[in-house]
Amino acid sequence: MNPDRYAVLGNPIAHSWSPRIHAAFAAQTGESISYVAQQVDSEQFEAVVADFFATQGRGLNITLPYKQRAYALASQAAPAAQQAGAANTLYLDANQQLCCDNTDGRGLVRDLVDNHGVSLRDQSVLLLGAGGAARSVLGALLSEQPARLHIANRTAQRALELRRLFPGADVLSAGGLVQLDAEEPFAIIINATSAGLTSSLPDLSNSLLAPQGVCYDMVYGAEATAFQRWGAGAGAILAADGLGMLVEQAAEAFRIWRGVRPQTRPVIESLRRSL
Ligand code: ATR
Repeated sequence: MNPDRYAVLGNPIAHSWSPRIHAAFAAQTGESISYVAQQVDSEQFEAVVADFFATQGRGLNITLPYKQRAYALASQAAPAAQQAGAANTLYLDANQQLCCDNTDGRGLVRDLVDNHGVSLRDQSVLLLGAGGAARSVLGALLSEQPARLHIANRTAQRALELRRLFPGADVLSAGGLVQLDAEEPFAIIINATSAGLTSSLPDLSNSLLAPQGVCYDMVYGAEATAFQRWGAGAGAILAADGLGMLVEQAAEAFRIWRGVRPQTRPVIESLRRSL
């Protein structure tokens, strides 16, 4: 019997590690799947998704720049995808309806809590950035019941807009990066800006991080990111990158599709060795 087909769609996609991660999950759990990375041109996205499921494809991961379009395409959206306004996981339900979810936030929380032993409960948390990456993790961070969650963004207006998407969250506040100096120190600072990708970094005061504080950068690379280096300099007891989040969000997608959650630690360690 042919393996069940899965794929990740994006543009660019050549450097995606998702095929390797899902192959490792499949080997570990004995699930019979194939998983490929497919680059999709902008005008083709909806047609490629429709064709994939029409030809018995079982599930898709969606990455930049199509996560919002994937969400718009689905007829059913899990709460995390609704909160994010974006989806990274697509599948058909028993009635052949196209369903979407967003596993990024759960992936981040899993990495923090399970892999790094960092609990968010009753902690003061600072989230840097107010773009798609920040929005996709906000709901999951709030679910961990921090004492406080502050969104700070270079463009303050975008942080305030993001705040307004969660009207019931009393612990949530928002503002600009420049007003951060007036804030109490934070126990956990998470970087969801795209600044790390270009090695530039928002100008942050070391006093923003509380003693014994934790820094987490949602991006990763062979070297420590600029934000990880800032964290270490500011006295963080842990300054982690987002490699674990990448694997954990994939494990959540695998669980949605296959009903079994793979072990992530050996996969994270194997990717780390390849960086
Ligand atoms: P993504 O989907 O990766 O979040 P995005 O929606 O383009 O991408 O958002 C990028 C985020 O990184 C924004 O919060 C952006 O701040 P602005 O809203 O002010 O543009 C932030 N960002 C990018 N480069 C930055 C830099 N050099 N310093 C501070 N913030 C930066």
